[in-house]
Amino acid sequence: MQALVLVGGFGTRLRPLTYHVPKAMVPIANIPFIERFVDYLEANGITHIIFAMGYLPDPIANHLAKRNSKAKYDFIVEEQPLDTGGAIKNAEALLSDRFFVFNGDVLTTIPLREILKVHEQKGALVTIALTPVDDPSRYGVVVTDEDGRVQAFIEKPPKETAPSNLINAGIYLYEREVLKHIPAGQPYSVERGLYPKLLEVDAPFYAVAFHDDYWLDIGKVEHYLQANFDVLSRKAPMPIAGKEIQQGVWVGKGVEISSTAKVSPPVLLGDGCVIEDGATVGPFAVLGNRVTVKRNAIVRESVLWEGCIVGEEAIVTRCVLGSHCEIEANVNVEPDRAYGCGERITAGVPA
Ligand code: GDD
Ligand code: MG
Repeated sequence: MQALVLVGGFGTRLRPLTYHVPKAMVPIANIPFIERFVDYLEANGITHIIFAMGYLPDPIANHLAKRNSKAKYDFIVEEQPLDTGGAIKNAEALLSDRFFVFNGDVLTTIPLREILKVHEQKGALVTIALTPVDDPSRYGVVVTDEDGRVQAFIEKPPKETAPSNLINAGIYLYEREVLKHIPAGQPYSVERGLYPKLLEVDAPFYAVAFHDDYWLDIGKVEHYLQANFDVLSRKAPMPIAGKEIQQGVWVGKGVEISSTAKVSPPVLLGDGCVIEDGATVGPFAVLGNRVTVKRNAIVRESVLWEGCIVGEEAIVTRCVLGSHCEIEANVNVEPDRAYGCGERITAGVPA
């Protein structure tokens, strides 16, 4: 089975991290998102993956080229962003009679065979996966009848007006025929264009809801942190790189932890991390390779990419730090935000 993965977006809501790193390459518990995603596709029987790319395609393609993969890859790079539907139409020459389409920023365990089963039973043109969320206003909200046939698709409805909390999970199964409804060579959205149009022409458009499987769109800083923590806490049942030296504490090679440091699970420390005297790391901390947490510093509920240095007595809570950030001693870093790669943080907020 074939899959088209949309990875051409700018990752705007993850800036400044995504100024140099595409959203698909951000690490989730120290493994690049796209690596986890391709593992998921392969485990679900996908044998040919087409990547629809635009913004910063090279880091993704270069990473995948090094991967020992079972699936065949194709890469398409858009000259200008074509939006979700335009990107699918642009891949027409490579697409087979039936194929899956994925938003390439969703960490999930939704089983594809269940979607295929419903698709075949209903004789659908398009079948989409749904997942429940607390606040549907940021997503595509979907209403179905008792038979699972889609009755309404409303992209990002105003707050409190959403008719359901079941949203588009960004996983679709298409019959090739649907491509005739998408205009060629121009930006076009499946969410705002194709899906409302399928309802207008009464096409067999079905949905299947997954209530028990893990699902999270990693595209916002808050959700990016959550995805990392869910992997650490095993809420998202996915591999963790490193060795579990005590329950909930995973470490890479050559990690040095002072006997007076406190490492509170769940925590993941990448290769070569150094945790100095009196420092506190965790609960809920992911440190990339070669991160140093200096004397008496605190890192909690945060994700630090490789090479970061946290100065003495500094405090980092609910932050994402891009690679090689350096925090000066005694700084209490402003929480609930991301810092770009290579930033030097010299001032924070009162402790
Ligand atoms: N190739 C290509 N070209 N890919 C694109 C483009 C483009 O012009 N624009 C966006 N993408 C990719 C993004 O990289 C991402 O993987 C996917 O399309 C969805 O774009 P987002 O920008 O992340 O959309 P969203 O999260 O606001 O909403 C979408 O996902 C929700 C589920 O997470 C919609 O599909 C919603 O309906 C859905 O509920
Ligand atoms: Mg998204």
